[in-house]
Amino acid sequence: MEWVYIKDLKNYIEQEVELRGWVRRKRSSGKIIFIELRDGTGFVQVVAEKSTVGDENFAAADKLRLESSLIVRGKVRKDDRAPSGVELLATQVIPVQIPEEDFPIQKPDHSIEYLMEHRHLWLRAKRQFHILRIRDAVIKAIRKFYWERDFVQIDTPIFTGAIGETAGNLFEVDYFDYGKVYLTQTGQLYLEAACMALGKVFNLGPTFRAEKSKTRRHLIEFWMNEAEVAYYEHEDNVRLQEDLVYYIVQYVLNNVYDDLVAIGRDVSKLEKVQKPFPRMTYTEAVNFLQKQGFDIKWGDDFGGDEETVLAKQFDSPLFVTHYPRQAKAFYMQPDPQNPEVVLCDDLLAPEGYGEIIGASQRIHDYDLMVERLKEHNLPIEKYDWYLDLRKFGSVPHSGFGLGVERTIAWIAGLEHIREAIPFARTLYRVHP
Ligand code: 4AD
Ligand code: MG
Repeated sequence: MEWVYIKDLKNYIEQEVELRGWVRRKRSSGKIIFIELRDGTGFVQVVAEKSTVGDENFAAADKLRLESSLIVRGKVRKDDRAPSGVELLATQVIPVQIPEEDFPIQKPDHSIEYLMEHRHLWLRAKRQFHILRIRDAVIKAIRKFYWERDFVQIDTPIFTGAIGETAGNLFEVDYFDYGKVYLTQTGQLYLEAACMALGKVFNLGPTFRAEKSKTRRHLIEFWMNEAEVAYYEHEDNVRLQEDLVYYIVQYVLNNVYDDLVAIGRDVSKLEKVQKPFPRMTYTEAVNFLQKQGFDIKWGDDFGGDEETVLAKQFDSPLFVTHYPRQAKAFYMQPDPQNPEVVLCDDLLAPEGYGEIIGASQRIHDYDLMVERLKEHNLPIEKYDWYLDLRKFGSVPHSGFGLGVERTIAWIAGLEHIREAIPFARTLYRVHP
C-alpha cells in the first residue's frame, strides 16, 4: 500500500493509503475511535470503527495515547466539514511506539518557561508547526529573491579575528595558538571582500551578540541575511531593501497564507504593505519624537519605544536614514552634504516590531577607513585584509543586514522573538 502524506490526501479520494504519524488527539465513543493524526505535513481525522478494523486493530487503537507514533492504513473519504477536506476510514492500525508517560505538554496554560524547557516537544504543537513553516517560507523567499537577481551566495565564516560591528557584545573563543577570536556579529566585512570579486553577493547564517538584553526583540544567536553590492550607493541600497522586504511579504502571502490564518495573524495588515515604503531622516525622526514628548536629543540612538512610535504611523515598514555618525558603526560613509551624518538606513517594521534591517554605504577611501578604525579603538593590524580592499580597485559599495527572526516575528505577528527560531538562545537559556 502506498505511503502518502496528509497534505496530499485530497488526491487519493476513495483510495487505500498508508499514513505514518503521531496521535495529536484521541476520543472514543464505544465502538468508534477518532484519532487526530499529524505527520508533519498536516492533520487529519482517522476513524477506527470496530466493525471495519476488527477486534485486534480496535484494541491497538484503544491503547494509543497522546503522541503515540503509529502507522495506519485505510480508505480516504471526502469530508467537507474537515479542515483537510478528507478523513481516513481505518482498516489497520499499527502502533510504532506508545509512550509510558503522559506527554508533558497537554494543558493550554503551561508557563512560557515550562514550554521553553520542553521546546524539543513543544515543536510538535500546532502553532509551532505553523510558525516554523512560515519561517521556512521567509528563508525560501530570501534566497529566491537574490538568485532571481543573479546574486551569488557567499557563506561567511563564524570565527572571526576582526570585530565586525562593535566591541561591546562579543563572544570570545580560544582558538589554538592564535589566541582569542570572536563568534561573528556580522558577515559584512567578508561580503565586502566578496562583492569586489563577484559584484552582487549575499549570505544567510547565524550571528552572535553577547547582549544582556532581555527584550522580546533580542536573541543571543540569531540569523542574518546580508547583501553587499559593488558600485551601489545609498539610494540603490535602499531600493534593494525595499524590493527584498516587499518580495518576502508577497511570497509569504502567496505560499503560507493558511499558516498565517491558522495562528490568528491579521493578514490584512500584511496586505497593506505597499511600495514605496515611507522614509524619514534621522533628524526628522528626532523632531517628530520630541513633539510626541520623548526626552531625546540629536545624536542619541533610538530605543525600542522610539522605533515603535515612529513606525506605527505607517502600514508599510519605515526607512529612517542619515543617522549621526557617532550613533553608528565605524564603516559607514559620511554624507557629502553633511559629514556629521552617514549614508545609512534602519528599516523599522510596522506594528511595533522594531528594526529589521541595518544598512549603509561603506567607506571606500583607505585613509578615512584608517581614521575611523582608530577613532573606534579597533586593532588596525586585524583589519589589514579589510584595508587591502581599499588599496586594490576600491569602489563605492553598499549593503545591509536583515534580522531573520525579527522579520518572522513581524510577519507572523509573534509576541516574542523566541518563537521565531526552532531553539532560541536567550540570556538565560541554552537548553534544550
Ligand atoms: O543593525 P545590525 O547590527 O547591522 C549589522 O550587523 C550590519 N553589519 C549588517 C550589514 O550592513 N551587513 O544588525 C542587522 C539586523 C538588525 O536590523 C536586526 O534586525 C537584527 O540584525 N538583529 C538582531 N536580531 C535579533 N536579536 C538581536 N540581538 C539582534 N541584533 C541585531
Ligand atoms: Mg542596527
